[in-house]
Amino acid sequence: MTYSKFFINGKEAGEHKGGFTPFSLEVTEHVKNNNENVLVVKVDSKERPDIPPFGSVLDYLAYGGIYREVKIQITDKAYIKNVLITPQKVLSKTPSVKYKVKVDSKYKNEKNAILQIKIQKGKKVIASKKHKVSLNANKNTEFEFTIKNVKNAKLWDIDNPNLYQFKVQLLNESSQKLDHFETRFGFRKAEFTPKGFYLNGKRVEIRGLNRHQSYPYVGYAMPKRAQEKDAEILKNELHVNLVRTSHYLQSKHFLNKCDELGLLVFEEIPGWQHIGDKKWQEVSIKNVEEMISRDYNHPSIILWGVRINESLDNDEFYKKTNDLAHKLDSTRQTGGVRSIFRIARSFLEDVFTINDFIFEGKRPILSDPKSATGQSKDVPYLISEYCGHLYPTKKYDHEGRLEEHANRHAKVLNSAALNKKISGAIGWCAFDYNTHNYFGSGDRICYHGIMDMFRLPKFAAYVYKSQVNPKIEPVLEPLTIWSTGERNIWDYGVVDLFVYTNCDEIRLFLDGKKVASFKGAKERFRGLKYPPVIIENMQKHWRENWGNGKFEGYVNGKKVVEKKFVKDPIASKLEIIPDNKSINADGIDVTRIVVRIVDQVDNPLIHTSDCIKLDIKGPGEIIGPRTLPLIGGSTAFWIKSKRKKGKISISVKSERLGERKVKIIGK
Ligand code: GAL
Repeated sequence: MTYSKFFINGKEAGEHKGGFTPFSLEVTEHVKNNNENVLVVKVDSKERPDIPPFGSVLDYLAYGGIYREVKIQITDKAYIKNVLITPQKVLSKTPSVKYKVKVDSKYKNEKNAILQIKIQKGKKVIASKKHKVSLNANKNTEFEFTIKNVKNAKLWDIDNPNLYQFKVQLLNESSQKLDHFETRFGFRKAEFTPKGFYLNGKRVEIRGLNRHQSYPYVGYAMPKRAQEKDAEILKNELHVNLVRTSHYLQSKHFLNKCDELGLLVFEEIPGWQHIGDKKWQEVSIKNVEEMISRDYNHPSIILWGVRINESLDNDEFYKKTNDLAHKLDSTRQTGGVRSIFRIARSFLEDVFTINDFIFEGKRPILSDPKSATGQSKDVPYLISEYCGHLYPTKKYDHEGRLEEHANRHAKVLNSAALNKKISGAIGWCAFDYNTHNYFGSGDRICYHGIMDMFRLPKFAAYVYKSQVNPKIEPVLEPLTIWSTGERNIWDYGVVDLFVYTNCDEIRLFLDGKKVASFKGAKERFRGLKYPPVIIENMQKHWRENWGNGKFEGYVNGKKVVEKKFVKDPIASKLEIIPDNKSINADGIDVTRIVVRIVDQVDNPLIHTSDCIKLDIKGPGEIIGPRTLPLIGGSTAFWIKSKRKKGKISISVKSERLGERKVKIIGK
């Protein structure tokens, strides 16, 4: 990131523009056999105006340096460069698998070889084939084949993300291995239509979030485990079904995990509002190619974003990005994110993807798709952002603001779901993120997330979380900190209490006495599968009996979840929750440790601040400072392994609540 130049043994060996797309360099001619070779990488991490996304102002930081894996590959004169897999007729009982194997060959004359293909699910081989090929460098060494009538292929979908390994061996004539290549793919059909999004022929209402891939202290430089954790948070904690990789390609580990979890992805090229000159555009067009060739096989990816986010129309440029995407991938549709405030009319993509920021708390909640698209007929339509800067909210904000933030997200999701011409909506955004001085809250942070930068929830997180089948996770989250003085009205606080839940009935108890039972507000939230419960005039109940509270959640008459509040909360405990018990002793791996101040019944105290001091012993290090504020009662930090196995012992000390220790094993 952003520009790199390579020198081998003092000689220039190549360059690359851009910090989001992977690339490789052929260095054979520069390398001295059996000798020490020196590779120098010169990195320019300035926001260079000749490279996307730069050239104007950006509302996020893009950081700098070498932040992803680098490897040196030693190969035969011929090696497999890439394999692109296209499952066909996937909804039939006997689908086909078409594949393109790209071989890089330096053999000048005829060189016969064999490509041996295996399609496997775990150890079970479901199809295999051998092809004779010629690796003459003067001829085409891209080979395309199809295996027909594949039996027992299971579909990839959101609930059952069946993945298959595709293994290719390149053998010489005497069956000796020259190279091998392994990738994964899935059988699935994804299609945006004017009547919504269909996965494997079934309509799926998209409920997604945008993700920036940045983290506190280290920017983008987080390894596999942290990347995977974000996908897990989105799928298993927030229960969304799609993530948009705003506004660039993200880590392959993140995408691999999306494949494994059944989390749909809308991926897009780097950029933000600004289009540069012709040279800049060439880099951007190259980004389209690099994105598709890197990520073609991910079944989770259902849409390529080939416009610079929120840029104005530029038909010449965007015809090129669209044509290229269609040429490289005839199976996926293109989108290109626009902003509602600068209605653009040149619709060159397959899906009209629009950031709809019309909702400022009062109706209308969403724009009318027809007037937004400016098209005479209905077209596939997806809302790619909403909320965000219209209502920045901090994890420790006033309770009323946290609640309004949550309700705005719920209202947009509800409205989007009620209009079957809308494929769904992707909220801005999953996590707070660092930004330039021009944006954010004066501390270079955009508080647009439904979680903070440490991936800790605000109330709005519960809106998404509550939309999951209670069999997967029963959810019951009253949007209150259960305090009498927080709201700015004279009496005991909240007017109406919103409870985000997937239970079909909830019961409220005060000091052990049942007050009433409630059902979801279906009439107000017809679009939500699990509408929130609205307890009207909650302060009336509190006025009658300010007591300890208990909510019970029922599904089909059976109690499945319970939530308690105390009338006199006090900071009782420091909770220390590591994401993992062990990490790899490779000097790269990390895990997150969450620290929260909780009350007597383990509720976080979002207005209680404290300070903690961290200490670490054993083969690990703390990323970031060792003295941390518990702003809003909680924070998190990451620890990183060293290249040594052993017990890593971490101590967290607060003057007020004492010391807690946690052990992680470096394996
Ligand atoms: C959009 C933009 C996002 C982010 C968001 C904040 O206009 O696409 O990157 O800035 O606003 O709400």
